[in-house]
Amino acid sequence: MRLSDTRIVGELAALGVELKPCVALSGLTSLGIGGTTDLLRITRHDDIAAILDLLDERGIPHRFLGGGSNLLIGDGELPWIVLQLAKPDPDVVLEGNRAHVDAAADLGRTVTFCAKHDLGGMEGLIGVPGTVGGALRMNAGAYGTQIGSYVEEVKIYRAARRTIEILRGTQISFEYRHTSFAPDDMMLAVTLNLPSKPYTEIIQGIRICNEKRRASQPMGQKSAGCIFKNPPGASAGRMIDELGLKGLRVGDASVSERHANFFVNAGRASARDMLTLIADVRERVEKAYGVKLENEVVVWSA
Ligand code: EPU
Repeated sequence: MRLSDTRIVGELAALGVELKPCVALSGLTSLGIGGTTDLLRITRHDDIAAILDLLDERGIPHRFLGGGSNLLIGDGELPWIVLQLAKPDPDVVLEGNRAHVDAAADLGRTVTFCAKHDLGGMEGLIGVPGTVGGALRMNAGAYGTQIGSYVEEVKIYRAARRTIEILRGTQISFEYRHTSFAPDDMMLAVTLNLPSKPYTEIIQGIRICNEKRRASQPMGQKSAGCIFKNPPGASAGRMIDELGLKGLRVGDASVSERHANFFVNAGRASARDMLTLIADVRERVEKAYGVKLENEVVVWSA
């Protein structure tokens, strides 16, 4: 979608928005898949309400993009524009055991930054790609750690009420890859309360998680992490593997040879290829196990 009206473009610029025209979103997602649209970078939280009012008044559909690491975006010219928060400098500010982190901050860098200041707890999250905001929205987790456990408060833009609100961690329900945030809530910042731990001990924990991840998950390949959520008491990866589906391919989209719940873009996969592969695997698992796998990956259809 193109913002062609120069008046709107001017009004957005006055609200501190940087317009990047005709961006290929494949370059902003870890899967390397996604069509083109205009991208608006928001530089000031306080202007979000005015920006969204303007877009709504003019009937311009929009989506919020985080780090793009758990996202499958449709192909071609997209029928909505994309909003993204610009990263402030610094994006993490420490105060005792509290880390005030901007939603646009990189999750892995936040974990290591906190570690260098003897704040631990998040070692398991080290290899999880994406932004802190994205991790928060889906309660990202790995190796027994989930980000929700450390949340003291969250600053969100609540689109339904058109206000910026601060929620206490206890007001939010953090479940397995799911939170009680509304779909149109926009994560702005979070305060994490982290346990004190010596740097050397944290680094040791990080090394162990990195080794486990290297041994079982594809590294350096384009993926969105696990495609499906694990059904209660079972592993989607194990079921797909047991059906002999590693290496199954649709175009350049394929089930990873290393971990069957990772689907990789082995070249120039389209969203259509990836969606066909996902539907095929879901159907085969349902036939064999009677379990309908639920997507963990978020799909933005064109
Ligand atoms: N397994 C297989 N074949 C495979 C993959 C796994 O047999 O191809 C078996 C493993 O041997 C193991 C069991 O399945 O016995 C579970 O596998 P694993 O330990 O790799 O964990 P997972 O349940 O597949 C979950 C998360 C990962 C997270 C790891 C480590 C989900 C959907 N996945 O994977 O998170 O990194 O545990 O904590 O919850 C993600 O969310 O994107 C993600 C990658």
